[in-house]
Amino acid sequence: MRIDIITIFPDFFNHFFEYSILKKAQEKGKAEIKIHNLRDYSSNKQKSVDDYQFGGGAGMVMNIQPIDDLITKLKLERKYDEVIYMTPDGEKLNQQMCNTLSLHKNIIILCGHYKGVDERARELHITKEISIGDFVLTGGEAATAILSDAVIRLIPGVINDETSALSDSFQDNLLAPPIYTRPSNYNGMKVPEVLLSGNEKLITVWRENEALKRTTKRRPDLLE
Ligand code: ADE
Repeated sequence: MRIDIITIFPDFFNHFFEYSILKKAQEKGKAEIKIHNLRDYSSNKQKSVDDYQFGGGAGMVMNIQPIDDLITKLKLERKYDEVIYMTPDGEKLNQQMCNTLSLHKNIIILCGHYKGVDERARELHITKEISIGDFVLTGGEAATAILSDAVIRLIPGVINDETSALSDSFQDNLLAPPIYTRPSNYNGMKVPEVLLSGNEKLITVWRENEALKRTTKRRPDLLE
């Protein structure tokens, strides 16, 4: 999967993709990340990318010109499955969306800033608008990092143990059950006996039960 990220702060991503599974995904050739500096595509001398809002009001608006030029150029080079704009008024991100996105070949992610982007840029190019939650960030970069992380780890072949991603929280609308590792007894705090029993069936039933208990208690909305 190729992810083209459009940003006015390319350095934000300098180290983000260099760790752990995100790094391995690239080494394995499963993910390719391209960061584009939107300023490079501004047609004016000052290389500005924003301007005052028509009709008045506080906050700057990102110009359509550099966004249109860059996305048009990218679209001439390859076909994109989605052109995503990260924005607090987008569809709320969930695991199901990440699953779907992880199966795509090429996506573009546009990071917004200031008040947001000129509406016409959205009409012209954006196929999907995503919010990471009901709060407002200073820009779309952190949201893009979160989306990319959640999607890349799901790309088939990225995580070795195929069942690992399937047992994540939310994957079946349930939170994940409690997990333990050695020692089995830590200062009297013991690991549930069933997990040491070696009985796979009993362990599966226990985990399902615990997942349901935890979800009922913490996130009953997931069960509706
Ligand atoms: N940009 C600013 N706030 C955001 C949010 N909550 N989700 C996605 N992009 C954003």
